[in-house]
Amino acid sequence: MSNNLGKVQELIDNREKAKLGGGQKRIDSQHNKGKYTARERIEMLLDEGSFEEFDMFVTHRCTNFGIDSESYYGDGVVTGYGTIDGRLVYIYAQDFTVFGGSLSETMANKICKVMDMAMKNGAPVIGLNDSGGARIQEGVNALAGYAEIFQRNILASGVVPQISAILGPCAGGAVYSPALTDFIIMKKNTSYMFLTGPKVVKTVTGEDVTQEQLGGASIHSTKSGVTHFVVDEEEECMELIRKLVGYMPQNNLEDAPLAICTDRIDRMEDVLNEIIPDNPNKPYDMYEVIKAIVDNGIYLESQKAYAPNIITCFARFNGQSVGIVANQPKYLAGVLDINASRKAARFVRFCDAFNIPLVTLVDVPGFLPGTGQEYGGVIIHGAKLLFAYGEATVPKVTVTLRKSYGGAYCVMSSKHLRGDLNYAWPTAEIAVMGPSGAIEVLASKEIAAVEDPQKKAELIAEKENEYRKQFANPYNAAKYGYIDDVIEPRNTRFRVIRALQSLATKRVVNPAKKHDNIPL
Ligand code: HXC
Repeated sequence: MSNNLGKVQELIDNREKAKLGGGQKRIDSQHNKGKYTARERIEMLLDEGSFEEFDMFVTHRCTNFGIDSESYYGDGVVTGYGTIDGRLVYIYAQDFTVFGGSLSETMANKICKVMDMAMKNGAPVIGLNDSGGARIQEGVNALAGYAEIFQRNILASGVVPQISAILGPCAGGAVYSPALTDFIIMKKNTSYMFLTGPKVVKTVTGEDVTQEQLGGASIHSTKSGVTHFVVDEEEECMELIRKLVGYMPQNNLEDAPLAICTDRIDRMEDVLNEIIPDNPNKPYDMYEVIKAIVDNGIYLESQKAYAPNIITCFARFNGQSVGIVANQPKYLAGVLDINASRKAARFVRFCDAFNIPLVTLVDVPGFLPGTGQEYGGVIIHGAKLLFAYGEATVPKVTVTLRKSYGGAYCVMSSKHLRGDLNYAWPTAEIAVMGPSGAIEVLASKEIAAVEDPQKKAELIAEKENEYRKQFANPYNAAKYGYIDDVIEPRNTRFRVIRALQSLATKRVVNPAKKHDNIPL
């Protein structure tokens, strides 16, 4: 055998060794926990055969606590690039079989390298997290490594899409890298995120909680809103990431992707002409409207279980990727509250940063009143959504289906916040408040003066009708040009598609500034 062949064999052997990570025993243990290894995850996520690995032979340099006697090729993270549906993505996947996927100085260097490459080449970064946090033996070097990653997350924000999947533990300050990225996906039962674990919580606050109760997928998808998606299986997670990047451009300089549309653009949906109940206090399901108007009824919803009074999802109109924000009358009457405002504001800002047009479907009775909301700072949080819509320069198409009252009218992509095309259904009611509230304020004395209950009820009905005639319709707003057209509900899909087509060349630039000061 020539010397060259020997060297090639050595490379092949070293590769095989690297692929074993922390060894077969630990791989088996990972499988026994119902988890895949870093390499298996990458294989599942990327187009077949597309993965190119970097830094396979990196090892740690730490000598503390005798850790120098134990080292593994790759040092606990697999990094590189590949494609999803032929489009370039950069990826890192923490390998729990090597020191529990804990973050060392060298692991951080590897992650930073793929992030730098992603920024240079304008492609999304996907992080598959499964880690025991900072590698304890490395001390401050591990912390420095985290901070280097955070800094890159911050600079990449709004430049390339960043997606984090949490597939195992994610504790301590380590949670801040995912938090700085655009979307977080958590897997049920095997993943958790918290700043301090149950033991520390017990010591400091006396609370007894399990890891799942403290930071499991169900908590973060319903109570905290930290995670955007929850999956049952890792296969589902990878499929979801593939779908998600399909709605996004590669970077902030590209237009949102266009897919081939297989759905008729002028498809009429007669059911929409009748979907609004006669009784204004009766709900209907906004998902039915979304399904009826988007391409093939397909959409991908973010933060589904958090603040369900507002829906945020990606979908396509004639192949054009869009972000939809829609009030959901079926939950809390679609009211805007703190959580709904924060949820929608972040979604709007993501879409705007990545040139994804916004379609807003309005049916909102206003902001939720009360001390709970006021003490929680609804003024500031509501202002986030207002700010997000007002600063957004992407095409903005708004359809008001029914209620649009008070401050919520202004906020929900109104004409005055540079809504480009604002349509309303004939069932729209655009006013300062609903008829009963308005009559309470405007005619309370007159009504109180009537003693006979029958006559009182008649007077209230008469006043409400009068108010409804004047304000609770789309024509008053249309009279001033705040609504560009009143459209037939069943034709909404076609009108939205035409609107988006007309706005494809929209150019609006905000005033030059260092950055804005959104009310955080
Ligand atoms: C070094 C670690 C490690 C760590 C796990 N390991 N975490 N090694 N540093 N942080 C090693 C273990 O020694 C073990 O090695 C292997 O990884 C697997 O760990 P197990 O404990 O056997 O696994 P499991 O029972 O599944 O428990 C996983 C775990 C637990 C819950 C993550 O390991 C754990 O509590 N680790 C410490 C978590 C932590 O407190 N991290 C620091 C957070 S603070 P062997 O050789 O047996 O396979 C932080 C600050 C960041 O991260 C700040 C950034 C700003």
